[in-house]
Amino acid sequence: MNIYELQSKRRTIRKFTDKQIDYSLLEKFVEHARLSASGRNLQPIRYYIASKVELVDEIFKYVSWAGYLKGAHSPSFEERPRAYILFLYNEQTITNPRWDIGAASHAIQLMAQYEGLGTCWMGAIQRDKILKTCNISNEYSLDSLLALGYPAGSPVIEDVHNEDIKYYLDENGVLHVPKLSLDEVLIK
Ligand SMILES: Cc1cc2nc3c(=O)[nH]c(=O)nc-3n(C[C@H](O)[C@H](O)[C@H](O)COP(=O)(O)O)c2cc1C
Repeated sequence: MNIYELQSKRRTIRKFTDKQIDYSLLEKFVEHARLSASGRNLQPIRYYIASKVELVDEIFKYVSWAGYLKGAHSPSFEERPRAYILFLYNEQTITNPRWDIGAASHAIQLMAQYEGLGTCWMGAIQRDKILKTCNISNEYSLDSLLALGYPAGSPVIEDVHNEDIKYYLDENGVLHVPKLSLDEVLIK
C-alpha cells in the first residue's frame, strides 16, 4: 500500500479478532513514533505498551467506545483489543503535549495499518484506573491511548457537505463514517 492508500484506508477499528500482536511489532511502532515532529523538539511523550493478557483485559473495563452509538458498536469481550499503547507525559516539564501526541498517534496508526492491524485512538478513558492498572509512576499523566488489534470488520467512508457528521451503522451492521468533502474543507 502506498502512503496515499494507507492514509485514505485508515479507519478507526473497534472490533478485533483473537489474533495476538507480537510485542516486537508494538515496540517497533514506538521506535519509529519517537522520531515524529515535536514542538521545540522537547519530545515530551513517554510510551507504555500494555500487551500482557491480564493488563489488556483490565484496561478494557476503563475505555468507552463510539459515543454517538451509545453502546451499539462496542466490542464484546471476545472482540476486545489485544494491546494498548499509552501516551504519557510529565506535567512538570510540559503543559500541553497534545500536538506532539497527535503526530505520534497518527504515525502509529499508519504503521499499524501497513502491518494489517486496526487501531482506535481513545480519549474517553478512565485515566487514573488505567495508570493504576499498569502500575505507572505518578510522575506521569495519561493523555490518551491507542487500542490495537487485528480488525474484525471494515468501516466505510462517505463524502458529506454540511450534513450530520455522526457515524452510523447500516442495516448490515457496517459502520459508515461521514467525511466532509474537499470543497467543504479547502478554503479557496
Ligand atoms: C482525539 C481522539 C479521541 C478519540 N476518542 C475515542 C474514544 O474514546 N472512543 C472511540 O470509540 N473512538 C474515539 N475516537 C475515534 C473517532 O471517533 C474517529 O476517529 C472518528 O469517528 C472518525 O473515524 P475514522 O478514524 O475512521 O476516520 C477518537 C479520535 C480522536 C482523534
